[in-house]
Amino acid sequence: MTDDQDRKPGATALEAVSNARRLSRERGDGKIRVLFVCLGNICRSPAAEGVATSIAVERGVSDRFEFDSAGFYGGHAGSLPDLRMRRAASYRGYTLEHHSRTVKLSDYSYFDIILGMDDANIDDLHDHAPTLDDLRKIARMSDFATAFPSARSVPDPYYEGAEGFELVLDLLEDACSNLLTLLLK
Ligand code: 4NP
Repeated sequence: MTDDQDRKPGATALEAVSNARRLSRERGDGKIRVLFVCLGNICRSPAAEGVATSIAVERGVSDRFEFDSAGFYGGHAGSLPDLRMRRAASYRGYTLEHHSRTVKLSDYSYFDIILGMDDANIDDLHDHAPTLDDLRKIARMSDFATAFPSARSVPDPYYEGAEGFELVLDLLEDACSNLLTLLLK
């Protein structure tokens, strides 16, 4: 791969962003609907939802977004985020209050952009997409983490130590900041 092809966010991510802006504009409600997806919906995607919400509030643009998160594994459905994730997030000023839920088929039509955290999430999102148009909504969260040029995923921290949760938050803070900027451009 050349340096050019490696440069973030990359064409696929930027296309998903412009597709989302177009869908929101056509709907005319002034909001962009963003869904974050991981496996269990108790670590990475609820953290992404919390970080994105907090950045939007800080920037005074929370009325321009609707954020949610979901996962493909239903074993934690109804639960608050993992305590380790909540602790690490709380230390940085984020309160994570989402209750875990699985991805629904209606998410594909409802949301304007759907962000997966790793290869497995992206594959699952592609495999379940009801229409070809829905495929254009799917993007990789790490593609927006421009301060981490070599990161190709937001790695699953579930079986990792504390540093895994810190890395998730480092990646998400960078990716959410860039994603929100691009979506409002
Ligand atoms: P997440 O982390 O996908 O970031 O929420 C995980 C949470 C639970 C499991 C795997 C990953 N699990 O196998 O239970």
